[in-house]
Amino acid sequence: MIDIVVLTGAGLSAESGLRTFRDSGGLWEDHAVEDVATPAAFRRNPDLVHRFYNERRRQARSAQPNAAHRALARLSRQPGVLVVTQNVDDLLDRAGAQGVIHMHGALNRGICAACGNRFAVTGDLATADPCPACGAAALRPDIVWFGEMPQQMELIMGALQTARTFAAIGTSGQVYPAAGFVEIANGSGADCVEINLDPHRSSPLFHRHIAGPATTTVPAWVDEVIGPAASGDR
Ligand code: OAD
Repeated sequence: MIDIVVLTGAGLSAESGLRTFRDSGGLWEDHAVEDVATPAAFRRNPDLVHRFYNERRRQARSAQPNAAHRALARLSRQPGVLVVTQNVDDLLDRAGAQGVIHMHGALNRGICAACGNRFAVTGDLATADPCPACGAAALRPDIVWFGEMPQQMELIMGALQTARTFAAIGTSGQVYPAAGFVEIANGSGADCVEINLDPHRSSPLFHRHIAGPATTTVPAWVDEVIGPAASGDR
């Protein structure tokens, strides 16, 4: 049974050098969501959408996990913990986190729109690339676009109902359904904690707010929840 659910957002990877979406200098300042992050955008201009995600993939590949990813990786290895991320980078996984749910998909996976085959992606994807399974030139990044259903929602919803602690880390709480997780967890009686650089609460449903950069606040919070790491497990 899940006791602790952690939801992470772009703020977790900000100190690894990956841009967030809505902060000043964020990705949605330079790119319109409707040009690069919707199924209609991909139908209209697949080359542009591939270019956008190819660039995200290159940057994610050259970024390194930070202390907050490593602390959550340590937490994820405890029984009864579920880490859910909206991030499409793999920094939590590379930090050694177990069982991370990538609810908005992952840059290191592609999916064929013709046959549904999912496959690993390390380099760039292009409109003319054939599917490794069926050969159709219908590949897209395995990213959940606006208007699409996030991945593994049943599992997440079940975990939110049993969790005694819910933590939202580095997310602005503006994109549903993730923004609604605090309501479900709070309604089920969980202690709800928000950890964010910004001292303003995204929702009054959080019982506690820890303000500051993730690389210092998250390791401290994880130490508080499961005790300090043994040397060699940081
Ligand atoms: P946002 O860019 O909306 O929010 C990032 C949050 O991280 C803000 O609340 C910042 O205050 C906080 N933050 C920034 N730097 C931080 C740091 N060093 N430590 C702690 N917090 C920090 O990103 P998300 O909430 O993740 O979806 O965005 C949610 C979804 O919207 C994304 O998954 C993406 C986007 O459109 C899709 O593309 C489907």
